[in-house]
Amino acid sequence: MSRPLTILLASPRGFCAGVDRAIQIVEVALEKYGAPVYVRHEIVHNRFVVEGLEAKGAVFVDELDEIPDDVPVVFSAHGVPKAVPAEAERRRMFYLDATCPLVSKVHIEAERHHEQGRQVILIGHAGHPEVVGTMGQLPEGSVVLVESVGDVSRIEVEDPENLAFVTQTTLSVDDTAAIVAALQARFPAIEKPRKEDICYATTNRQQAVKAIAPRADMVLVVGAPNSSNSMRLVEVARNHGCERAMLVQRATDIDWSALEDVRTLGVTAGASAPDVLIQEVIQGARDRFDVTIEEVTLTREDVVFKLPRVLTAAAE
Ligand code: F3S
Repeated sequence: MSRPLTILLASPRGFCAGVDRAIQIVEVALEKYGAPVYVRHEIVHNRFVVEGLEAKGAVFVDELDEIPDDVPVVFSAHGVPKAVPAEAERRRMFYLDATCPLVSKVHIEAERHHEQGRQVILIGHAGHPEVVGTMGQLPEGSVVLVESVGDVSRIEVEDPENLAFVTQTTLSVDDTAAIVAALQARFPAIEKPRKEDICYATTNRQQAVKAIAPRADMVLVVGAPNSSNSMRLVEVARNHGCERAMLVQRATDIDWSALEDVRTLGVTAGASAPDVLIQEVIQGARDRFDVTIEEVTLTREDVVFKLPRVLTAAAE
């Protein structure tokens, strides 16, 4: 008989409203316009999702110059620099913007500060598509990127009295609080977002993993290595009582022999990881252990974002 294993299933976990909307935009566009529908960048950071959409006729590219003029193109959930829709308009392309509304909110904030004469400091990870997109809302060179507390003492600003900060939506809540404190200590007049830029989904998933980590011998985070919010979940679990926290893309990644001494396994998933991958991991555990599942629910989410009108008109 197999030995017992308790799975602490963090809730909320997995798909957020922005990811759900972005995937639906591609799916509905495929239904309405037929294949191919081009998508600039991975629509969300998950290979499984991308391959599923490719099988239905989506074509993923890095830049607009890889796309013919006369096919629909979707911009990914992470947002795009202003130059991208401008180029699409110049070429009279038909584009659908799957930028998460909570990322667009940060774009608008950054623009508002810039218009009001404040220099914008962006807290985020260099090179992440969301950071590239947010920096690209303002003229090149005008946004100062801060990645760590250490950066705060190194940056140079135009006028310490005229600053504002915005953040990437998928950061670690705790690390960001430390960076914000350092910014406010150095620049007491700096303006902060009216409402937190780190999104509800990121915050809720981090809180839920904090609740399971201290009780777990190991935590598995289902997600992709290029998914910022998934990587943060691994760090949060490690910082809150579970050293043995790791990222797995899917069940086949798991070295089950490493679970020999694990009695309580924490499971969660990043905002771009589909539920089917989480179920696969649970099934993998059931195949080997006598599994009891305990769902640890911190909060319930009911956020839904509307699809672009051009698509819903067709779907009704
Ligand atoms: Fe949007 Fe947050 Fe998801 S910014 S795409 S709701 S992780």
